[in-house]
Amino acid sequence: MILKQSFLHIFLVFTSLIIHIDLCAQNDIDILINKMSIEEKVGQMTQLNLGFLSSSTNQHDGKIKQIDSNKLINAIKNYHVGSILNTAGTAYSIEKWHKILTQIQDIAMTTELQIPILYGIDAIHGVTYTKGSTLFPHNIGLAATRNPSLIREIAKVTAKETRASGIRWNFDPVLDIGRNPLWPRFCETFGEDPYLVSSMGSEIIKGYEADGLSNYTSVSSCMKHFIGYSDPKSGKDRTEAYISDITLWQKHIPSFKAAIDAGASTIMINSSMINDVPVHSSYELLTNLLRNNLGFKGMIVTDWEDIIRLHERHKIASSPREAVKIAINAGIDMSMVPNSYSFCEHLVDLVRTGEIPETRINYSVRRILELKKKLGLFNNPYPEKEAFKNFALKEYKTLALNSAEQSLVLLKNKNQILPLPKDKKYLLLGPATNCLSALNGCWSYSWQGDKENVYPEDGKTILDVFKLRFKKNQILCKANNQYSNPKNFVINFSEEEINKVDYVILFLGENAYAESPGNINDLKLDYNQIELAKKAISTGKKIILVLIQGRPRIISDFSENIDGIINASLPGSMGAQAIVNLIFGDFNPSGTLPFTYPANTGDILTYDHKNLSAMIRTAPNKRKYGGYNPEFKFGDGLSYSNFSVSELKLSKDTLIKSEKINVSFLVTNYGLIDGNKNIDMFIKDHFASLAPDVKNLKGFKKVFLKAGEKKTINFEIDKNDLFFYDENGIKLFEEGIFSIQIEDEIKSFYFIP
Ligand code: GLC
Repeated sequence: MILKQSFLHIFLVFTSLIIHIDLCAQNDIDILINKMSIEEKVGQMTQLNLGFLSSSTNQHDGKIKQIDSNKLINAIKNYHVGSILNTAGTAYSIEKWHKILTQIQDIAMTTELQIPILYGIDAIHGVTYTKGSTLFPHNIGLAATRNPSLIREIAKVTAKETRASGIRWNFDPVLDIGRNPLWPRFCETFGEDPYLVSSMGSEIIKGYEADGLSNYTSVSSCMKHFIGYSDPKSGKDRTEAYISDITLWQKHIPSFKAAIDAGASTIMINSSMINDVPVHSSYELLTNLLRNNLGFKGMIVTDWEDIIRLHERHKIASSPREAVKIAINAGIDMSMVPNSYSFCEHLVDLVRTGEIPETRINYSVRRILELKKKLGLFNNPYPEKEAFKNFALKEYKTLALNSAEQSLVLLKNKNQILPLPKDKKYLLLGPATNCLSALNGCWSYSWQGDKENVYPEDGKTILDVFKLRFKKNQILCKANNQYSNPKNFVINFSEEEINKVDYVILFLGENAYAESPGNINDLKLDYNQIELAKKAISTGKKIILVLIQGRPRIISDFSENIDGIINASLPGSMGAQAIVNLIFGDFNPSGTLPFTYPANTGDILTYDHKNLSAMIRTAPNKRKYGGYNPEFKFGDGLSYSNFSVSELKLSKDTLIKSEKINVSFLVTNYGLIDGNKNIDMFIKDHFASLAPDVKNLKGFKKVFLKAGEKKTINFEIDKNDLFFYDENGIKLFEEGIFSIQIEDEIKSFYFIP
């Protein structure tokens, strides 16, 4: 009995201690808030662009600008600004970052309240703006790896290198669903499927935050862009989207819900509008849905200039002051203004006039200060010396190569032409052959990623790697290192020289672009690249096509005459090495598409389309039309091994209520070399009260098998894999027939909820 009482006593002391500490924490923040003037509170809700505080206002001319200390002092001491983002141009050395951040925090420490500045940066495939950082494949390529632990490892490295730079808030991950390949930010997504995006996005969040935000190996994540940004009607960035509530719940919300459950600390809002409602203005989306329904308790930041754009672009606010009132009432905590003091001035006035209660801004200020406290900024706002040792480590390059290799997708291999023999002659053609910008894409040492001169000196183009690997007389190539140089679109060799060549390798696709500058009017590959491909085909040689692109550009004009096709997406700093390794068999590819690759611009469908789109109809004249006819399917991807899936079995043919079904199947590597195999598991709902998709991804695994090896693989499913949402986000569990599909194996079962 005494023992029990002493345990109870210890428990009570312990819990009261926890409550006391928590109250202390809140007291610290509450005490600070109580000391703050309205101007100081509004300042904490204000984020400015470093470029605005520099000597020149031209943000994107790619030139490094000097920080203007008077502008910096004015921002921090007079406007009490609490957050700054970006660089003033392109990437800085880590030493320059430390100097700038120390200058900024020094000024903050001279203010009465000494509230540290929260610095934010975009590091969406490695650390964009720090020279010497490691750039990884973009998300659209990482999704092809089907390797969640790899994604978390990459996030951990990005967190370490961001923190080593002195920065503790990363505007990442992108959790938008890639439903429209025309959209110029398609490469930033993990593809078209909500389950895959949810899985990968959660790994990024854990990679950034799992060690605890005060740890110098962590950064605060910022899931984005909530919500419905990625499916504009026209495919053009920041234009109107019409997305039903059911589609929002089925396709766009799950990845954010998963990230909230994974502990995401902040969220950035979609610049555009859904169904005529600008998301930054929507109390329904930002408070009722995000806060009350999805339970998000972290900090909400706007995207670039998106409050003023309620007036200037969306035209729902009659003045900039009205725009601030609308956005704050919707639920915004911090405004990425970022190039003026308008937000500060209007919000102070709105609070002074009582149009916005001070209690409302206290909520936002509390979230912001709590985040700064969690990040350890109050204890030490300066770049942490112990973080510095985690920068530019050799093993990061190995990880970048490994992830680039796993991100490559071998889509066609006619008569097993790949891998190529290493003792032949190769004609290398195409604009992506000799430039780093194509391999790295957006957010690569500059916003657009298209400045070849800001890439690391030791960066390797595909031509560089060929020159390192092969004799001079094996390579024919005159590719220029400026992507759009006209020389890159012609075959500038004599017939005699071409006759001596064994293989033509075409490196086509897109040059780097970010956001609206990447808008296009046609998903087809550029005309001059299609013409180059046709000229290459007319040589009569065996042709290998490597597509280096952020989105699936249409190649159906010539693809049937190509022998081998590789989709490289944007493979990052070690992409050239990975591509050459694949072509010559130095590793066995395993990547599988995370999106549908369209064959025609008028036939853009995702794999989870409705039965209506899948149906082939026959006209009276027997002409068949309709159907799902992509160039390549979601999940497509070949190997240098040969794999089969067989013996699909279900542990029961009826699933009742909360029971589970074990799904087992055999995977065989009947090829001659060891290899990895990505397995996607789909579930089909045969009939439902809302038109069901033809199938939905509900599980995936990456399996390694030695040559000749067989393995039994298992998934487990339950009712949570079988529901669908109604327009209010209510999960509907309906009785009926379902099927499990793994490659060509299909097994049905009956579900009774
Ligand atoms: C950009 C992007 C957003 C980014 C922000 C800050 O416009 O929409 O993804 O995080 O501005 O650079």
